[in-house]
Amino acid sequence: MPLVDLDRFDFLYANRVKGMKTAATRDLMATLSRPGIISLAGGFPDTRAFGEEAFREISHNVAADAAQALQYGPTAGLEAIKDVLVEVMAAEGTQASQEEVFTTTGAQQGLDLVAKTFLDEGDGILCEGPTYAGALNAFAAYRPRVMHVPMDRAGMIPAAAREALEKARRNGIPMKFVYTVPNFQNPAGVTLVAERRRELLRIAREFDLVIVEDNPYGMLRFEGEPLPTLSALEQEDGDVDRVVYLGTFSKIFAPGVRLGWVRAQQGILHKINIGKQGADLCSSNLSQMLIASYFENADWRAYVKRLTGIYRERRDAMLDALAEFMPKEVHWTHPQGGLFVWATLPSYLDATAMLPRAIARNVAYVPGEGFYAGGKGKNCMRLNFSFVEPDKIRRGIELLAEVVRERMELRSDLERGSQRGSQHGSQHGSRSPEGSRSVIGTDG
Ligand SMILES: Cc1ncc(COP(=O)(O)O)c(C=O)c1O
Repeated sequence: MPLVDLDRFDFLYANRVKGMKTAATRDLMATLSRPGIISLAGGFPDTRAFGEEAFREISHNVAADAAQALQYGPTAGLEAIKDVLVEVMAAEGTQASQEEVFTTTGAQQGLDLVAKTFLDEGDGILCEGPTYAGALNAFAAYRPRVMHVPMDRAGMIPAAAREALEKARRNGIPMKFVYTVPNFQNPAGVTLVAERRRELLRIAREFDLVIVEDNPYGMLRFEGEPLPTLSALEQEDGDVDRVVYLGTFSKIFAPGVRLGWVRAQQGILHKINIGKQGADLCSSNLSQMLIASYFENADWRAYVKRLTGIYRERRDAMLDALAEFMPKEVHWTHPQGGLFVWATLPSYLDATAMLPRAIARNVAYVPGEGFYAGGKGKNCMRLNFSFVEPDKIRRGIELLAEVVRERMELRSDLERGSQRGSQHGSQHGSRSPEGSRSVIGTDG
């Protein structure tokens, strides 16, 4: 067999795919299934918690209407699923009508459709820094200029968002939307505080932008009071409907059904509908009916509560292990929900270069670089706590801390060798305490 020349058709590729990278997590997937690896890398919910019996029951209900389950459906989704969307949004305090909700093949498709609807090449968007790598991936196809807005432990910093928008305005860059994951953000685990949500809405009004509110994790709260969605705050204000809300069943039910939704005003939904017709005509009827059957017949809130109980225990295991094992120069966030902790190593360490060593020691994480459009985040890593049992999380963090410590010691040895002395020790100070305003992704 001749070797396949992977770039044989390079001259035919569209410009849009040339700069596109595969998500680091997707690439890691193969390695992570290796037996013995403790993977803190994926973003997997624990689908084992759902159980075979419950699944058999909902499948049985769907089988009663096999013909419809196996058929094409309306692009916007079946009526039964729209009722569920309205109910789930109401559970988070956002009022929506059947006409305002639109089914997508995961929130991931929502991201693609929003980008398809709004972005021409060279348009500007604001994203948190770091931000969800899958969103960067979806947006990249439309070739926007991504401007990252720094976050601290209270979420995106509004003054920095305003500054970025003013600069873009001076430079004549057409700004289209602000993308935010307000609750237990992927990857940083931080939550945008209520006052900043209001401020972000004011900024969007001032610059006449859309806000894309991506909220897969809002219901996975372990502590603290739930915060109003940006969508709900906008409704309170009675303002122009400029929030495009993205929801998903992946984290409150299961990602395998690949079902999410958009809530937006009619004009935007119309464009999204046309975009989806070109993408996949409609989302799976089978998935929609499974979900409708489950949400109609089972206590879905109790299941979400059970999941959050499981994740909370795992988050605690991760935070405890970090405190016990990590060198004092390492900082991390303290998520009140969701699936992720973001850890920041001293700035001279490179988490991407360190990964093969960690994998050789049987622990994996996602290096921070993939969560920025332009090369930041090298000394950071995302750690997932939802999928692995607490004792394994503890062991995984212990192994990871050994790798980090080794790299730090190597650096000290090199410094001593070149007689520059080891000065880095204390300048990083202690760990950022909970509630601190220090910027995420720096080592200060
Ligand atoms: C912030 C964020 N948005 C969207 C998605 C995509 O989710 P879905 O499974 O609904 O496509 C994820 C998945 O992890 C995510 O973390």
